[in-house]
Amino acid sequence: MHPKLQHPPTEIPSLSAEGKIIDPICGMNLDDLPNLVSLVYKGQAIHFCDEGCKKRFEADPERFSKMPPLIQLKNVWKIFKIGDTKIEVLRNLSLHIWEGDFIAIIGASGSGKSTVLNMIGALDKPTAGQVFYRDKDITTLKDAERAELRAKTFGFVFQQYNLIPWLTAYENMLLPLTFITTQTETSAVKARLSEIGLGERLNHRPFELSGGEQQRVALIRALTNNPEVILGDEPTGNLDSSTGEKILGILINLNKKQNKTLIIVTHDADIASQADQVITIKDGQMIRDHRAHKKIYTE
Ligand SMILES: Nc1ncnc2c1ncn2[C@@H]1O[C@H](COP(=O)(O)OP(=O)(O)OP(=O)(O)O)[C@@H](O)[C@H]1O
Ligand SMILES: [Mg+2]
Repeated sequence: MHPKLQHPPTEIPSLSAEGKIIDPICGMNLDDLPNLVSLVYKGQAIHFCDEGCKKRFEADPERFSKMPPLIQLKNVWKIFKIGDTKIEVLRNLSLHIWEGDFIAIIGASGSGKSTVLNMIGALDKPTAGQVFYRDKDITTLKDAERAELRAKTFGFVFQQYNLIPWLTAYENMLLPLTFITTQTETSAVKARLSEIGLGERLNHRPFELSGGEQQRVALIRALTNNPEVILGDEPTGNLDSSTGEKILGILINLNKKQNKTLIIVTHDADIASQADQVITIKDGQMIRDHRAHKKIYTE
């Protein structure tokens, strides 16, 4: 019997509003996929794309039974047009991200990882499909509302640190506060700088700082608004391995101690293997295998 026939309507996100069978953990559309992994929870059949997702559900069914996931991409397409050429970068991508998870997004160069991150962080809009944040479709927001959501909700850390060259380390970190109306907590920012060993660098400009120091400033800047979600696009990609480990340590600590959802695009198998969930992008889609295979980073 096709698994669809076993499904009653449910609160558990194993069946979408459109009646598609989806993996509640990773959000993959399972319609027409062979060899699903299933279990019965509270009398209801739930299906998964692989053993990894099933194990995650089994470890904490209560958590994953609560709709909605923090972030949901539903049937997202992103098509870039260059002249007469169309590039389909994301091709009907559906995925879930659960609050408090550390997610690693991996895949070959050009597979669409940064594009996915830009969708999640409301930096870009899909050509078709929807992106939900706490069940709110953010693709329908006006530009100003999207900017506000970004400023209040997301902290971005990029491979290029993107510091403003003519501002000091301290001024760079205060930058996000100019976009929102909350009380300026300048002393808290100064304290954070000292905590990460940059107390002496307050008045230095980016060119006077090492790569690792610049990335630490960028990191603190990303945290200035106390975001719920931290998005990193190869945040340690430009750093030597020991500095990279320190930066990653800070990020993972924020995830574990403060329950910040952490989503990192990476080419590094060791980083990916520390994540709660690996999302592998291939040809603009999420593949079924959520393990952090080494070959994915090189093929
Ligand atoms: N603004 C754009 N206009 C046209 N094509 C784009 C644009 N942005 C991305 N692309 C194309 O989309 C594809 C995916 O790009 P993306 O930056 O998401 O890849 P990626 O997986 O992050 O790669 P990398 O690991 O090299 O950073 C690439 O072929 C890229 O050339
Ligand atoms: Mg990229």
